[in-house]
Amino acid sequence: MIMLKKLGNTEVPAIGLGTWEMGGRMEADRSRDSHWMDIIRKGLEIGLSHIDTAEMYGNGHTEEIVGEAIKDIPRKQLFITTKVWSTHLKYNDLLRACENSLKRLKTDYVDLYLIHFPNPSIPIEESIYAMNILVEQKLVKQIGVSNFGIKDLETALKHSSCPIVANQIEYSLLARNKGTYLDGAESEIIPYCRKKQIAVIAWRPLGKEKFNLLASHPLIMKLSEKYDATPAQIALSWLIQQDNILTIPKTSNYQHLIENARAMDIQIEPDDFIRLSQSFKDE
Ligand SMILES: NC(=O)c1ccc[n+]([C@@H]2O[C@H](COP(=O)([O-])OP(=O)(O)OC[C@H]3O[C@@H](n4cnc5c(N)ncnc54)[C@H](OP(=O)(O)O)[C@@H]3O)[C@@H](O)[C@H]2O)c1
Repeated sequence: MIMLKKLGNTEVPAIGLGTWEMGGRMEADRSRDSHWMDIIRKGLEIGLSHIDTAEMYGNGHTEEIVGEAIKDIPRKQLFITTKVWSTHLKYNDLLRACENSLKRLKTDYVDLYLIHFPNPSIPIEESIYAMNILVEQKLVKQIGVSNFGIKDLETALKHSSCPIVANQIEYSLLARNKGTYLDGAESEIIPYCRKKQIAVIAWRPLGKEKFNLLASHPLIMKLSEKYDATPAQIALSWLIQQDNILTIPKTSNYQHLIENARAMDIQIEPDDFIRLSQSFKDE
């Protein structure tokens, strides 16, 4: 069953579809387009209607894949998030970036538009102003940020007329307070976001290449058996059982896709949740 969670003025599935490396990393890779489209369509069929992408992914090609995958699906059934890259945060660049994303996605609007990373050489105020204009122009339904610490969040909140509804940050059992780009997710940023009603979208929920550390952890193995679940499902369930946290695992594998969606059916008991929280340190 799909577990819905609040994201600004709407609700979306607690588990969505990540798309990083679908169609390339920094450059387009067109060799597996039909596979990625099938994965996205299959994800949508099983209710994973929140698709997370970015203009930077595959240098725009990932958005093209998403656009192609969704083109026959009624727009209202989808929740599409995309992100503006940190070199496009000046006013005119940001408006242009959004226009280009919409073209690639073949849609009139995005549901959630995020600043992918802050850029210290461009004032957040300027970018947030442009994001607000996009909402006014109805090209974007809601706005948010990604990889923002508290100081940057405060600046964004101060300068935005529209609510900042989400902060997408790295957070998982393997990255609690020491992330690739940001520290203090669990100790500071998540509590701050809760207080300000900013949903936290956890990226890299399975630790990506460190997934084996999760899968081979004795407690994860024990709980997998107890809940008749896979290690990935335990890790995802630990995330989405937390108030105000959604997530967006990425997979290239149909079995994993179904498995990830079914993590929304697993309810870890409070004692086990605490045990998990206590058993993992940042890797
Ligand atoms: N805002 C940002 O700066 C930022 C940064 C990074 C990522 N993101 C977003 O977050 C999404 C998720 O992060 P990510 O892709 O880096 O890492 P991830 O979702 O934690 O890990 C992806 C890896 O996990 C494996 N996997 C997925 N489901 C599995 C399952 N049920 N069992 C076993 N392995 C499984 C996948 O392999 P298989 O293909 O074999 O399933 C893949 O190698 C991205 O795709 C992107 O949309 C955002």
